[in-house]
Amino acid sequence: MLGTDLLAALLRRNWSVDSPWMNDLDITNPQHLEKIRRRDIGPYTHIINCAAYTAVDKAESEAMAAMRINAVAPGLLAFAARETGAKFIHISTDFVFDGFAQNPYTEADPPNPLGVYGKSKLQGEQNAIKENDQTIIFRTSWLYGAHGPCFPRTMITHFLKGTGLKVVNDQTGCPTSTVDLSESICQAIELSIPAGIYHATGGDQATWFQFAQLAISTYREMHQLPNEIKLAPCTTADYPTPARRPAYSVLNTAKLESTGVSPHRPFPESLLEYCSRVDLTPQ
Ligand SMILES: NC(=O)c1ccc[n+]([C@@H]2O[C@H](COP(=O)([O-])OP(=O)(O)OC[C@H]3O[C@@H](n4cnc5c(N)ncnc54)[C@H](OP(=O)(O)O)[C@@H]3O)[C@@H](O)[C@H]2O)c1
Repeated sequence: MLGTDLLAALLRRNWSVDSPWMNDLDITNPQHLEKIRRRDIGPYTHIINCAAYTAVDKAESEAMAAMRINAVAPGLLAFAARETGAKFIHISTDFVFDGFAQNPYTEADPPNPLGVYGKSKLQGEQNAIKENDQTIIFRTSWLYGAHGPCFPRTMITHFLKGTGLKVVNDQTGCPTSTVDLSESICQAIELSIPAGIYHATGGDQATWFQFAQLAISTYREMHQLPNEIKLAPCTTADYPTPARRPAYSVLNTAKLESTGVSPHRPFPESLLEYCSRVDLTPQ
């Protein structure tokens, strides 16, 4: 999802970009990574890793796979980048935090992931930094984009089918558009920001219920649909999932903005663009 919009943003800047398919570059395959180190592909100025194991609930029963892709591979990629003089840019998550905070998390706050996915992503951050001290990590949250399954797409699909839904209203985070995050990554490259961890999310916070309401009403108004919105708020306890999720995972983005990277567009504006681009055919 992020990779597709990021590729478009990089190409819009007329930068030369390689975007290999998994057949050619499986990030868990040492022989494939060797192609970077041997310069059979590249050399590159930057290597950006958008690949990940993102099935948060499934990760609870597939810890080995999650760890291989999210924890081990970023270290290997960071090492390959270092060997070839490329800067390594990696994407991480708000799920590295436990969600017990009352104020937005800064990069200085100690992580404490609740589930396997968050643990694997945290380990990936640490491995990448250990292998390459020039690594830049963007922690993002609640990503949505036109190219792939995501929360607003699911909500709009249910709305169009007329299905009533209960949506969790006691978890708060910052929805983040893949288009806006891609713009942040491009600006960070242009500005040559220092290595380190940065929080990179949309600036507006919402609960999943509020996110669903806004996504559906935006789509409904855009397409002038008469359909009724059948949403009801529920609690996390009403909607049990295999993985525990942070109740509050709002990230403070001041550090990134202090480098000159622009804040994201207001949530309604990004969502409006999303609703105009979303492809609702089954994927
Ligand atoms: N989605 C969110 O809400 C969210 C929130 C916070 C942070 N993030 C982070 O943001 C980044 C982008 O997320 P996303 O939602 O765009 O993810 P996504 O849509 O699930 O895309 C991840 C991609 O990685 C590919 N992949 C998996 N294993 C691979 C491997 N071994 N080698 C090469 N490619 C592999 C997947 O291919 P297949 O589809 O073929 O498996 C998929 O195309 C990830 O680092 C994620 O952890 C996401």
